[in-house]
Amino acid sequence: MKKLTVPHLLGIKYLQIKDLELIFETASQFKEIINRPIKKVPSLRDITIANLFFENSTRTKLSFELAEKRLSADVLNISVGHSSISKGETLTDTVKNVLAMKVDMIVIRHPYPGAAHFLANEVNSCIINAGDGTHEHPSQALLDAYSLIEKIGDLRGKKIAILGDILHSRVALSNIYALKMLGANVKLCAPKSLLPKHVDSLGVTISDDLMYVLNWCDAVNVLRVQNERMDINYFPSSREYNQNFGINKECIEKLRKKIIILHPGPINRGVEISSEVADSDNTIILDQVENGVAIRMAIIFLLGSQINISA
Ligand code: NCD
Repeated sequence: MKKLTVPHLLGIKYLQIKDLELIFETASQFKEIINRPIKKVPSLRDITIANLFFENSTRTKLSFELAEKRLSADVLNISVGHSSISKGETLTDTVKNVLAMKVDMIVIRHPYPGAAHFLANEVNSCIINAGDGTHEHPSQALLDAYSLIEKIGDLRGKKIAILGDILHSRVALSNIYALKMLGANVKLCAPKSLLPKHVDSLGVTISDDLMYVLNWCDAVNVLRVQNERMDINYFPSSREYNQNFGINKECIEKLRKKIIILHPGPINRGVEISSEVADSDNTIILDQVENGVAIRMAIIFLLGSQINISA
């Protein structure tokens, strides 16, 4: 059986192209299975997985949980308000206690960039990063790339734009790494205040001209304005952000071609994207959600099988 080159999924940065190909190939097999009347397989019957979510989540949490259940793993869910972290326990202690209950794999979402990496060094378990602050969100980038390939084929030479709050978005960094690895041309479109300082080192081009970028690209990944991570004003108002960087029906009608629009959700309707566009056939938002389960099944299956092999 083919194996991943890593024992954890901490970030796209640590993966190789052959890992992405293996995950996509495996996800396609699972996608076929989850579209059958009986959606469950016994593959990870003897594995127990704990989902530790220290930040809000709907899609990612449900998607991981469903993926785990469809693989027949035993599943534990812990979220911050209900954990002893709110009583002052450290993250390492919480996780060591969880692992003492013979848990094999931890899926963690945490506001601290590097939390998953830190845990992988601290404890002896397989760690999956479900989003670490503003850093990486590898499973999202994998499902975004998979959904794009499904729609427009091989990404080599394709022009993909990432639009919006790049500074605060873990989806942006993971997408940049994945898209570059798959050979795409990546352009970022954002107000200067929402671009990170290290952006020049990422091998991407930048523009703050939305119409130019939409005319340039084959697909655009629209990011949410992450108000919850903003301690100062990064733009004058949501209305002005929308005027300069929001995608609406008029923008789409002015284009000389059809483009694909992705959004990781949750959507701020009327801020980064209008309702009309969000619900139009330009978007593949619900395909992304559907593919998310298959991609996460692939990640968990591949990492879970490696635990079995070495046990
Ligand atoms: C993203 C996240 O949490 O980073 N959403 C998601 O995982 N579906 C993007 C966001 O919150 O804007």
